[in-house]
Amino acid sequence: MEVKEIKAEGMDVAGFIKDKTDEISSLVKDGLAITALSGGVDSSVVTVLGHQALGNRLLTYFIENGLMRQDEARNVAEIFGKFGIPVKIVDARQEFFEALKGLTDPEEKREAITQTFYKKVFGKLVVESGARHLLQGTILTDIDETVAGVKRQHNVFEQLGIDPQKAFGYRIIEPLRQIRKDGVRKVAQTLGLPESIYKRMPFPGPALAARIIGEVTPEKIELVRKATVITEAELAGTEAFQYLAILHQDRVTGMRGGRRDFGLQIEIRCWKSLDARTAAPVRLPYETLERLAGRITGEVPGVVSVTYNIATKPPSTMEAI
Ligand code: XMP
Repeated sequence: MEVKEIKAEGMDVAGFIKDKTDEISSLVKDGLAITALSGGVDSSVVTVLGHQALGNRLLTYFIENGLMRQDEARNVAEIFGKFGIPVKIVDARQEFFEALKGLTDPEEKREAITQTFYKKVFGKLVVESGARHLLQGTILTDIDETVAGVKRQHNVFEQLGIDPQKAFGYRIIEPLRQIRKDGVRKVAQTLGLPESIYKRMPFPGPALAARIIGEVTPEKIELVRKATVITEAELAGTEAFQYLAILHQDRVTGMRGGRRDFGLQIEIRCWKSLDARTAAPVRLPYETLERLAGRITGEVPGVVSVTYNIATKPPSTMEAI
């Protein structure tokens, strides 16, 4: 089914919020729904819309998949707790690392994350809670890229001919499927979410696993997580759409303390973009790049090389896998 786009420009935000809360209420009726909050603007908006529509009949979970950024679970639970929405943190680290073990192909990694998320973790939560619906923040760009075959976005099913009811045992409601990131930010602001959420840069569903080339292990996640903390701190002042650190698979010869060190490589990307469909690298000041290189080689164990991506999307994509 073709999804009709609602453009951010000229959008009737209050009307959109009313339509979507009405839609959620009429689909869930007097039942329960669950939502997977990641702390990104999309899932945050869906959680607030769901909460407005259903009150405490919406059960909000943060899935700790082991692939998230530093302190994410705690920060998200704190922000939403202040907002009057309790968040339950579910520890699913073991399930995700087990599913990713031995996988190197990007699409196989994405598929493993999707199956673990929807079938294993949410399948169990749905059965335990008695909910029949999952609310999630799929946006139009996710659908476009999956349909075009660029990347299998973790949260797209219907357009691939997958019926979630048959595949996972519950229905999926996607209130944001007609809008893009710029529209979601407008809705977030109108809903009263804090600036730290509505201005938050995008972060992919497969989380830091999208930034590891080759097999994903807890050790590699820890390295890319450390590089991410530094990258986000150093680039916070830029007006970029998104910035990220990628851990490469190939090692290169370096030297440390006068000795050979066959070490790791981190690639930095910093994108300017309007809606993520196309993007170009930001012309970062050289001093910023030097500071990033110095901190990453100094603070992330084993890294001897730091590069900056200068290719545009397309032909690059924004994430590494
Ligand atoms: P790419 O890498 O496809 O990314 O150029 C475009 C935008 O989408 C984000 N991204 C995802 N978001 N699920 C999501 O919700 C995913 O599987 C996914 N993969 C990429 C990416 O961070 C960028 O903002």
